[in-house]
Amino acid sequence: MAAQFKNPATTALLELAKTRRSHYALKAESPIADEAIEHLVQQAVLHTPSSFNTQTGRVVLLLKEEHQKLWDIAIAALEGLVTAGRVPKETFENQTKPKLNAFRNGYGTVLFFVDYDALAPIKEKFAIYADNFNPWALESNAMAQYLVWTALESEGFGANLQHYSPLIDDQIAKQWNLPASWKLDAQLVFGVPTAQPGEKTFMPLEERFKVFGK
Ligand SMILES: Cc1cc2nc3c(=O)[nH]c(=O)nc-3n(C[C@H](O)[C@H](O)[C@H](O)COP(=O)(O)O)c2cc1C
Repeated sequence: MAAQFKNPATTALLELAKTRRSHYALKAESPIADEAIEHLVQQAVLHTPSSFNTQTGRVVLLLKEEHQKLWDIAIAALEGLVTAGRVPKETFENQTKPKLNAFRNGYGTVLFFVDYDALAPIKEKFAIYADNFNPWALESNAMAQYLVWTALESEGFGANLQHYSPLIDDQIAKQWNLPASWKLDAQLVFGVPTAQPGEKTFMPLEERFKVFGK
């Protein structure tokens, strides 16, 4: 029997979680105004929880040409690895470059950073938790990533999550003049999907979930 919820928004929320997928085939179009994208990302940044309300998440929204600049930076960085002999030229030409160009074909990228330096006072104040604050800051950042990813999908975008740090960190900080304390974690690429996402398999839920006291 399907579970009954009191609030239809709960069903809608879970449905959004279910339909959020990794979309790699994207085009540089947007179903909504740039202001709406900006508002969506801002609200996610504002309302994502953080340990002790430390609010260490930092976000940069890149649209259109600025988004393309990001992926040009990544392409140049990977090309540099080829020159340095660390990535085979064939791998770069046949796999890496087409993949990076597919990201470049999107409409925008959300850059997610963590400001670990901002945790210094609270680490001192709660010394007993000092080692936990960095992982908690990252967990909080991941929550914001998930919220933005799901909300963008809800508005008709497709998105995929990338991790090209630290390779592109310096260039990004320079290009957009970002504070040195902003440590890049993830890049969420988005655009209008041009293909269905690949099939997804699921482990049996019984192997992943237990309930007691029902
Ligand atoms: C923490 C995390 C890191 C990920 N890193 C990458 C990544 O670097 N590159 C990538 O293409 N996908 C990345 N993904 C996407 C996963 O591969 C994808 O979410 C997973 O296979 C499930 O597919 P779905 O997103 O379509 O549901 C990441 C996902 C998560 C949650």
